Amino acid sequence: MCGIVGYVGPRDAAPILIQGLRDLEYRGYDSAGIAVMPNTGDEIAIRKREGKIANLEAAVRGGVPLQGGTGIGHTRWATHGRPSDTNAHPHHSCGGDVVVIHNGIVENYAELKAELKAAGHTFASETDTETIAHLVEQQVTEGLTLSEALRHTTARLRGSHAILALNRKEPGVIAGARIGNAGGIVVGFGEGESFLASDLAAVIAHTRDVAFLRDGEFVTVTASGVDCFDQDGRTITPERRVVPLDPVSALKGQYRHFMLKEIMEQPVALSDTIGSLIVVDPPELQLMALGAAAARLKDTKRVVLLGMGTSLHAAMIGRRYFELFAGIPAEVDNASEFRYREPVLDAETLVVTVSQSGETVDVLEAMAIAREAGSAQVTICNVEGAQTTRVADGAVYTRAGMERGVASTKTLLTSIVALYCLALATGKARGHISPQDLAGRIRDLVILPEAVASVLADADVYEQMAPALARFNDFLFLGRGLAYPVAMEGALKLKEISYIHAEGYAAGEMKHGPIALIDREFPTVAIATRHALRSKMVSNIEQVQARGGEVLAIVTEGDTEIPGLVRYTVSIPDVPELLEPIVATVPLQCLSYQIALQRGCDVDQPRNLAKTVTVE
Ligand code: G6P
Repeated sequence: MCGIVGYVGPRDAAPILIQGLRDLEYRGYDSAGIAVMPNTGDEIAIRKREGKIANLEAAVRGGVPLQGGTGIGHTRWATHGRPSDTNAHPHHSCGGDVVVIHNGIVENYAELKAELKAAGHTFASETDTETIAHLVEQQVTEGLTLSEALRHTTARLRGSHAILALNRKEPGVIAGARIGNAGGIVVGFGEGESFLASDLAAVIAHTRDVAFLRDGEFVTVTASGVDCFDQDGRTITPERRVVPLDPVSALKGQYRHFMLKEIMEQPVALSDTIGSLIVVDPPELQLMALGAAAARLKDTKRVVLLGMGTSLHAAMIGRRYFELFAGIPAEVDNASEFRYREPVLDAETLVVTVSQSGETVDVLEAMAIAREAGSAQVTICNVEGAQTTRVADGAVYTRAGMERGVASTKTLLTSIVALYCLALATGKARGHISPQDLAGRIRDLVILPEAVASVLADADVYEQMAPALARFNDFLFLGRGLAYPVAMEGALKLKEISYIHAEGYAAGEMKHGPIALIDREFPTVAIATRHALRSKMVSNIEQVQARGGEVLAIVTEGDTEIPGLVRYTVSIPDVPELLEPIVATVPLQCLSYQIALQRGCDVDQPRNLAKTVTVE
């Protein structure tokens, strides 16, 4: 959550920072701000505005030009202090010499603030972040360099943090710190210039030569170089890598919204992911990034799958794959619940995390517990080099390209494919799946891009239905078996982007409560495809309709019975049972998108949400 960006080099920093913030806006959009340090050592200039980056841009355009080749910028998802101009980052110390931006929560900020106030510091904002600026100022006043001061300051902060700081007395220098899992810091190595950002999205347009700071690492960047340190100030060598991400996939192009673009990209995302994970002739898996985890699959006796949000729904689907292909118990859990239990883990447990960003704080904390327990870990991730991939023993990468819409779409479909392949690999390593079955399951994947493309070819259907459906304020989504997580995903998409109350339920649970909600104003979306325990779903549909509820049914092409029963029908192609969730999810994404448009919602940046959740 929150996006941070830094630039130092020969160019004017302001436009680079603002573009960087645009690239990171999906991380938070309550307010935005930049600080630019003139090369002359004059005062650091700060511009910040409540609301989206467009407001900041207007303020920058309309004010005194910001000149200087060193600067930092921030896009905020508010935690402490409501969204406002004053609470927007950057924050400065009393004297104005030290300026900071921050992603994370200073858990002991109240006591630090009291201490600083007692020492004569005055506070301008309600934020926890401002304490950092004052603490750093105290240290530099005592003669420490910015970099040393930041290290001393972070030692006093509780919680997890990503921080960038400037000191007017050190022109051309940005100091950064990453403590815990509040969010990453990527360092970009340019030609005579350096970049810092929360993630690759803001760096990739300038350089692909990058390093990711690890927990407890500090960085000092100038135009000519990058120095990294540990908490004790010892120099460390950052692990540089050249990232392959394609910046083009981050551009909205002809589409009105990133979400729509990303929905329409799903056939390509699937074929890129499938192509990277299997060979078809002869059918074989090629999970190239499994690393040390590869050797441990054969000893796996149990699997624990973890994720949050949409990725949790992928994990729910993945559980079935492990049970079936590997013949071992598999459990799925919400990472934020798992991390606060006393989970039973051992060296024979394989922990599989799903996180498209690889940055979700609860997932990272759950992974730390698994590491402690000695469990093997594989992560499913869409960002090469992201934090989860550095903690896990191995990764299965999805090749969905960058996803910018806050509501995940293409990364869900590709994560399900990745889980399917990992479960097959586990089944193969354990000798549970026969070579013939394995070959058939691999071949099954090949039809997916085409099947999803055929659902998308009918996208007009949703546009036609949306006006009638957008008037409802409540929806029930029902599914059975693998369609249950699909129902939950359908409900999540709808609430995320159209702010409609929606419940995703296992259809068997309907009579245990949700049915009491059904009336003419409470429609139901029923996933009643051939493989989703169709005849049981028909009973659910009848029961809903008997209570006056309208039904939209997702059915398999060729179904002649259900369309005759219900008000709305959407057909999807017949695909193998285990892969059906991938295809059945697509109509629900399209439907949510069209309903959100009808209701005039901001599809790519829905209120209160952020794409990457790096604080609790
Ligand atoms: C946020 C996003 C969701 C996403 C979830 C998990 O809630 O809005 O779209 O599914 O985080 O993110 P991850 O990057 O771990 O998959």
